[in-house]
Amino acid sequence: MTENEATVAAVDWEAYEREASAALAAANSPPELDGARVRYLGRKSELAQALRGVRDRESGMLLNGIRERLEAAVTEREQRLEDEELDHRLRDEFVDVTLPGEQLAVGHLHPITQVRRIVEDSFLGLGYEIWDDREVETVEYNFDKLAFAPTHSSRSPRDTFYFDETHLLRTETSPSQIHVLEKQAPPIYMVSIGRVYRRDAITATRYPIFHQFEGLAVDEGITLADLKGTLLHVMRALYGPERQVRFRTHFFPFTEPSIEPDVSCGICGGVGCRTCKYSGWLEMGGAGVVDPQVFQNVDVDPERWSGFAFGCGLERAAQLRHNIPDIRLLWDGDLRVLRQF
Ligand code: PHE
Repeated sequence: MTENEATVAAVDWEAYEREASAALAAANSPPELDGARVRYLGRKSELAQALRGVRDRESGMLLNGIRERLEAAVTEREQRLEDEELDHRLRDEFVDVTLPGEQLAVGHLHPITQVRRIVEDSFLGLGYEIWDDREVETVEYNFDKLAFAPTHSSRSPRDTFYFDETHLLRTETSPSQIHVLEKQAPPIYMVSIGRVYRRDAITATRYPIFHQFEGLAVDEGITLADLKGTLLHVMRALYGPERQVRFRTHFFPFTEPSIEPDVSCGICGGVGCRTCKYSGWLEMGGAGVVDPQVFQNVDVDPERWSGFAFGCGLERAAQLRHNIPDIRLLWDGDLRVLRQF
């Protein structure tokens, strides 16, 4: 018996193969599998060493058979581990592409901004200029130059927010009429939109801060008919063609004659309900032909130029447009309300 034959005979190859197969089958990860492979099939394994010394055909067939079966077992186990790994990843990284995407909330313009843009658009379409103005005014511009009588009740600190004797928060956008008349020579076609302030208690129809749009047209030969046509135009843009419009006579210190436009109640359709106090009509602002006194106050010749002015609340307009019963709903910031408009 040669030395090699002795080596082959010294090992129980059946047991070796069983042990090796079990170790390969038990390997639960690529490194474990590699460890088992090196141990039973590697260059220093008993099998490799024995194979190197084999001289006879019988031992060669025996050992090569074992080697081939074990190598096949390694490949099979390798494949199995790869499949398992893939299964894991498919399970862990699963994405259901049919699920609906995350909903991103998209905002929209506040109803007051919407109304503001409707007003701006409809006057820009008539060739008017948009005029930006200040909210802090003087008594002179808010009252005096607009020909308010010295005893007019609006001048009272109970109605108006004063900073001191001469400065106040404007109570209307009408001071813009004076500013534009002082800065520009007629013809003038301007609209000024912004916040105004009054010391009113908060109710369903009043808020101490609100918005107005103010218009002024000054040209040769302008009449009350032009004013009516212009108001009709913007009221159609705001409320649509179904709503009726009427004009009532009124008084303002800076216009003569003065009128108040009304729009038919959108809630009852003009029949009469609580919102319109059973009149079928809702008031929407003030307007009139510019009083010659105002022109004189700003050195514009009333013999040559005539004009009209109008002022309306934006909150009012939004309420009338959408039939919103309470002005507070516009400023509470409640998205359940605002989302509706
Ligand atoms: N400024 C007046 C108001 O706030 C409205 C108005 C504007 C009236 C222009 C006539 C002309 O009530």
